[in-house]
Amino acid sequence: MTAKLILGKEVSEEIYGELRQRIDALKARGVTPGLAVVLVGEDPASQVYVRKKGEMCESLGMKSVTVRMPADTTQEELMAKVDELNRDPTIHGFLVQLPLPSHLDEEQVINAISPSKDVDCFHPTNVGRVLIGNPDFLPATPAGVQQMIIRSGVETSGKHVVVIGRSNIVGKPMAAMMLQRGLGADSTVTVVHSRTKDLPSITRQADILSVAIGKPRFVTPDMVKDGAVVIDVGTNRIEDPTHPKGSRLVGDVDFDSVKDKVSAITPVPGGVGPMTICMLMANAVKAAERASERC
Ligand code: GUN
Repeated sequence: MTAKLILGKEVSEEIYGELRQRIDALKARGVTPGLAVVLVGEDPASQVYVRKKGEMCESLGMKSVTVRMPADTTQEELMAKVDELNRDPTIHGFLVQLPLPSHLDEEQVINAISPSKDVDCFHPTNVGRVLIGNPDFLPATPAGVQQMIIRSGVETSGKHVVVIGRSNIVGKPMAAMMLQRGLGADSTVTVVHSRTKDLPSITRQADILSVAIGKPRFVTPDMVKDGAVVIDVGTNRIEDPTHPKGSRLVGDVDFDSVKDKVSAITPVPGGVGPMTICMLMANAVKAAERASERC
């Protein structure tokens, strides 16, 4: 079987086209959507993510603010910055890049972000709204996966979706979203994780298998049903002396062997990756639209 490749670049380009139109409409009404990203410290991976978010904002014609705070920032200083961004009418959405330096209390920071500006969808109010099926924002990575599924024509209604991984950022919200009524959902959902007994016997039942456990090439062909759709959210850097950098990115799925068994699959890199920033931008545009409706 030749698997269809579901490519985040293609799906995200389509969504960016739609976002540009919504941004133009907002600007015609005098509103420029504004997104701020707070980066505390100098974690190298976080610096890359934050730079990419700022660049994408600018390329869409949105206002982009990057707030850089030193690694020894106190909880009080960070909370004061969150308060300032909550009040800033030119900033429609913002996020605090995680992980924070270990002396800072992430939960207190997330709880302080105004739910109406919480474009990460990490605030308990927004997480709860996703669970009850009345979302304001959607968490970026699961929303990106759902858009890839919808826009590549994969049927989800009545299908068995198996989610590998129970993180608050991917696995749990993914499961909640696929359970809801509606397009790209209406699925029967099973969540499996590191403590699940005989995990392959469950993943082999999946019509759609979503994988986010942070273990390089964990999913092998014996764990996948013939013709399944496999969505790989993993990004793991592994050593590879044959590669110019000495390392390369692989997913949580052993792509080379699994691709011959499935009907569709997302590669790593080039699969889910580009969707996360895309859906963050979608949340920022939504936040600006909501704010402009309130004016
Ligand atoms: N660190 C890694 N991914 C994310 C994300 O989506 N949001 C935030 N705030 N921090 C992250």
